[in-house]
Amino acid sequence: MDNLIDGKAVAAQTRDTVAKAVAALPITPTLAVVLVGDDPASQVYVRNKIKFTEETGMRSLEHRLPATATQEEVVAIVRALNADAEVDGILVQLPLPDHLDSNAVIAEIDPSKDVDGLTEVSAGRLVLGQPGLRPCTPTGSVILAKAALGDLTSKHCVVLGRSILVGKPAALMFLEQNCTVTIAHSRTENLPVVCRSADILVAAVGRPKMVKSEWVKAGACVIDIGINRVPSVKRPGQFRLVGDVDYRKARSVAGAITPVPGGVGPMTIACLLRNTVLAACDRRE
Ligand code: GUN
Repeated sequence: MDNLIDGKAVAAQTRDTVAKAVAALPITPTLAVVLVGDDPASQVYVRNKIKFTEETGMRSLEHRLPATATQEEVVAIVRALNADAEVDGILVQLPLPDHLDSNAVIAEIDPSKDVDGLTEVSAGRLVLGQPGLRPCTPTGSVILAKAALGDLTSKHCVVLGRSILVGKPAALMFLEQNCTVTIAHSRTENLPVVCRSADILVAAVGRPKMVKSEWVKAGACVIDIGINRVPSVKRPGQFRLVGDVDYRKARSVAGAITPVPGGVGPMTIACLLRNTVLAACDRRE
C-alpha cells in the first residue's frame, strides 16, 4: 500500500523549480539568517537552511549571537538587514532565548523581506486574501495535500492546533484552496469525532502521537506537522523524531499520509527558498 506522501521528493522538486528561477534572474537573491543562542535543534535547522539556500544558487548570510544577547542587539541586526539593499529575505530563527521578546523582534522585520510570513503585514494580507509572503510550514502542507489529492475544493479540512506560527495560518491557507475548514484545539469537544470528519486532517499540536488511527476517516489525507523529540527506546540516551500522529497505525487507515521525518519538514525549507525568490523579484522589479 503506497499511501505515503514523500515530502523529501516533493521538496526536491520545489527546490529544483526555485533553482531554475534563480538561474534565470539577473541578480542573486540573498537570505539572511539570524540565530541567537545554541539550541541544538535550531542549529540543525539553520545549517540546513543555509545549505539549501546555497545549493539553489542563492547567497546566504548568517548572523550568530550568543544566548546572552540583548533585545537591542538583536533588533540592531534586524534593522541593519532591513537597510541592506543586497538582502532580500530575513529569517530570525525561533524560539529566541526566554529573556527576548520575539514578537517585538519580528515586528522590526521589513515586511518586504519577511520570508517567514510572520509579520503583522504578512498575516494581515493572508487574512484579507491579498497576495503576500505566506508562512512556510502551512505553504508546504498545502503543497503536499495537493500532491496527494489534486484540487482541494470542497474538501473538509480539520486543522488541529491554533498556533500563530502554524495552525491559524494553515487554516486560512486551506480556506484559500476552497476547503471547508474547521479549527480544532485543546478545548474542542469530541476531538476524535471532529477529526474523523476530515477529508484532510492537519495535525499541528506538538504532542507526540496524539492523533490515533481511530481519529482518522478511512481514505483521509493526513498532514502531520508535528516534530517531537522523544527518547529512543532502541538507543538509550538518544532521541528520535515523531509526529503528532500515531503514524504506524494511522497509515493503514489513511488514503495518504506524511511521515515524520521526511514529510512537512523538508517542505518548510523549500518554501522558505521559494519565498526568498518571490521577495527578491518583488523588491527588485
Ligand atoms: N523554528 C522552527 N520552525 C521555524 C520556522 O519555520 N521559522 C523560524 N523563524 N523559526 C522556526
